[in-house]
Amino acid sequence: MRNLLSIEQLGTGEITALLDDAARLKQERGQHAAQPLAGQTWALIFTKSSTRTRVSFEVGIRELGGFPMFLSKNEIQLGRGEPIKDTARVLGRMVHGAVIRTYDQQDVVDFAEYSGIPTINALTDDEHPCQILADLLTVREKLGGWENRKIAFIGDGFSNMTRSWMWAAKRLGFELAVASPPNCQPPEEFLASLDAPNVTITAEPALAIQGAQVINTDVWLSMGQEDQTDKELEFAGFEVNDALLAAAAPGHIVLHCLPAYRGKEISEQVLELHADTIFQQAENRLHAQKAVLCALHRPAGV
Ligand code: CP
Ligand code: NVA
Repeated sequence: MRNLLSIEQLGTGEITALLDDAARLKQERGQHAAQPLAGQTWALIFTKSSTRTRVSFEVGIRELGGFPMFLSKNEIQLGRGEPIKDTARVLGRMVHGAVIRTYDQQDVVDFAEYSGIPTINALTDDEHPCQILADLLTVREKLGGWENRKIAFIGDGFSNMTRSWMWAAKRLGFELAVASPPNCQPPEEFLASLDAPNVTITAEPALAIQGAQVINTDVWLSMGQEDQTDKELEFAGFEVNDALLAAAAPGHIVLHCLPAYRGKEISEQVLELHADTIFQQAENRLHAQKAVLCALHRPAGV
């Protein structure tokens, strides 16, 4: 693995190996024998807000021996219009890896190409691969795995989260039922390229939740869409609440990548009832990303 740009680009074996490593690193926290990032500086270039991703990467890089350098877009020349490929060619000569949160997936792809250093997608409009690795680790820990389990995603059917979940379903083969309002469903051309009969799309949240062991949701308006109030109106009836969960399988878990808007995509009661799982999911960002950092790092000086 040279970069982590998407779940789409990962193979099945790469995903499961990362999860195995994440579980091991979680066990070994505080006593890591190896410090693979010793002597290295990793840049975190963020164009959007972040709590979990920023903190988990800064802590994870330090715990693996490296030094994180946080660069907010508006504090570097990127914010004044310096092209991403020029930023990449400069940083590629100075730092050892980069973690990027931005809008356009192509910016992450270009950064990886022009910098030549390991590059991690920390969320774009297309994908949120680090989050999905943490989510899968949580499903493994809570339910033992995803084999023969139905996973439901209730919300925006073409957000970064759903796209990454759909690619995870393609790679790992679990049943994924996505419920989204008609105007927020993935386009036919995306579904054709996904080519995954185990992924189904419906406009009925109750249908997706029927018999599901994992119920996943996310904000209705992703970062950058906050003023799309018309879009938000389409989600009436899509709140994950007690009434909707009545149809879920016994022993089901609820996931939310956070931050959550209580009273919109999830009720206060459901979030608090499932807080143990949801905050374990947030913690797993740290462990999953350490596995990614270990898989991508190259020896210092290279
Ligand atoms: N889930 C997630 O990526 O959270 P942040 O936006 O706080 O990083
Ligand atoms: N879909 C959300 C995920 C936040 C972690 C967003 O992009 O804002």
